[in-house]
This record gives sequence, C-alpha cells and structure tokens, in this order.
Amino acid sequence: MKDTREFKTILVEADDSGLGRLTLNRPDRLNAVGATMLQELAEAARWFDEHRDLRVVIVSGAGRAFCAGADLQDSPLAASEPQTAKSWLYRREAGQYGLRASDAIEQMRAVTIAQVQGYAVGGGVVLTAICDLRVVAEDAWFFIPEIDLGIPLAWGGIPKLVREIGPAMTKELVMTCRRFGAAEAKAIGFVNRVVPPAMLQDEVEALARELLDKPSVPVAITKEHVNAVTRAMSAGITAFADGDVLLGASTVEESRVAARAYRERTLRKKS
Ligand code: COA
Repeated sequence: MKDTREFKTILVEADDSGLGRLTLNRPDRLNAVGATMLQELAEAARWFDEHRDLRVVIVSGAGRAFCAGADLQDSPLAASEPQTAKSWLYRREAGQYGLRASDAIEQMRAVTIAQVQGYAVGGGVVLTAICDLRVVAEDAWFFIPEIDLGIPLAWGGIPKLVREIGPAMTKELVMTCRRFGAAEAKAIGFVNRVVPPAMLQDEVEALARELLDKPSVPVAITKEHVNAVTRAMSAGITAFADGDVLLGASTVEESRVAARAYRERTLRKKS
C-alpha cells in the first residue's frame, strides 16, 4: 500500500514498508526550484512526518539532473525595485522560503538519502547537504554560482556547508563558483558513496533497505543525536536573515549587472 499526496512540482509517496520518496519533478527545467517548489518542499516534510511508520525517505530528481538550483526564470527577487511596504515584505518573505524548506527537510524524522545524478547546482548543493546520507553517480557535477549571480548563497547554505566540508572548502567553492565532480565531493567528505550511473538507483534502494532492517529506535536516536551535535557546532550562526541579505544584494547595481549577464549566458537558447 502506498500513500501519496498531490503537489505541482514534486512527487511524494510513503509505502507501508517504511520507505518514502520525494522526487523533484520539473525535469524539463532540470528540477529548478521556484517559490512554489520551496513551499511544497516544506509542506512535504510535514506530510512525511505525519507518517509515523516512515523511516527512510529517498530524495531524488526526475530526469537527467538532480536539481539546477533556483529557477532563474521565476525569481521574486529579480523583480523591479520595491515600491511599497507590501511588495518589499513579499520579496523579503520569498527570500526566506529556501531557508524554511531546507530546515524543514533537514529536520524530518525519517532518515533522508540524496540520490544525485547529473547536475546539482546552488540550492541543489544545499539540498544534497541537508540529506542525512548522499549517494551520487560518477557523472554528478556540483557548483554554487550565486556569487556570479551577484547574490550571497542563501537557503541556510553557508552554515550547512561549513558543517559538512569546513570553512576553507566552503569559502573556496562559494567564492570561486567552480565546478567539482563526484570524486572531489567524496574526497572532501561531502558525499558518502560514488557509484556508476547505471547502479545509482539500486545502490540507494539497497542502502534504504539496509536501514529499514535495522532496529528503528537507535537509528532514529542516532539521526537526532548527530543533528543535535551539528546544531551545537553552528549555534548562533543561524541563517535567519536570508531574505534581508538577498534583498540587500539585489539592490546593488554591480550585482544587478552580474545577475543580468549570468541569466543571459545561462538561459540563452542553444539554437
Ligand atoms: N532555472 C530555470 N531554468 C533552468 C535552470 C534554472 N536554474 N537550469 C536549467 N534550466 C533549463 C534551461 O533553460 C533549459 O531549458 P530549455 O530546454 O527550455 O532551453 C533546460 O533547463 C535544460 O538546461 P540546459 O542548460 O540546456 O542543460 P545543460 O545540460 O546544457 O546545462 C546546467 C545544465 C545545469 C549546467 C545549466 O542548465 C545551468 O547552468 N543552469 C543554471 C544553473 C543555475 O545557475 N542555477 C541557479 C543557482 S542559484
């Protein structure tokens, strides 16, 4: 038996073996994340938590990429200058959606496993970082292009990356926006396993089944315990002000020029 719930941009299911699936489902845009998907991700986390018997959730992306990050064609922050208090507050709130979604997924009760193929970009890197375990295909590529877009990395990405790969690697990868592959991701401790693309799904399923076969209480306590330790490591460095820093950066002329240029070269039709 499977329980599902309908969303516009993601697929969710929970079966009675204790396994759930969360699939980003915009394959034609490489699962780029707009405001709707961010709100749906936060809602999905609540939905999974309502399934008390659910123990493992596989997080994946439909199609050839895991997640191309923020939707460059649907950004409330890219709107013109705020004219009214209402529109300013809307844009600020929209700037917080990523943080809310990433916190919600990270704090889900079930153990999450990221299944990453193809590209994981910007928010896609953050989405990988907030899953408890990460299995990636050899052809996976990661990069964090926010600075080239004229904005700081949001979605709680800085504290979450510092926690995972340390300050120096976080600074390098965020400041240079350079690409790094699966082997480097493994070498810096960002992912658990790297497998040939054809084996990715089977490897993730096998890992999920292995966890489902373990006694549930110590597995759940281990997740909570590790998360309590990592929260303590970043205590006081919460990313509460994502919306403010995004809004602030997006008013700087240099950032606007960078964002326009980045969008043009990235979204240019390859005809
Ligand atoms: N937002 C909106 N649409 C996106 C997108 C994004 N972040 N990433 C990819 N797409 C769309 C492309 O516009 C393209 O649409 P089209 O078929 O209508 O032209 C489609 O997804 C496929 O992408 P394409 O660029 O053709 O694939 P590729 O394999 O050549 O390149 C990437 C893949 C990820 C390197 C490239 O798409 C890219 O750089 N995307 C932007 C990533 C980004 O900067 N995200 C923002 C993070 S803050």
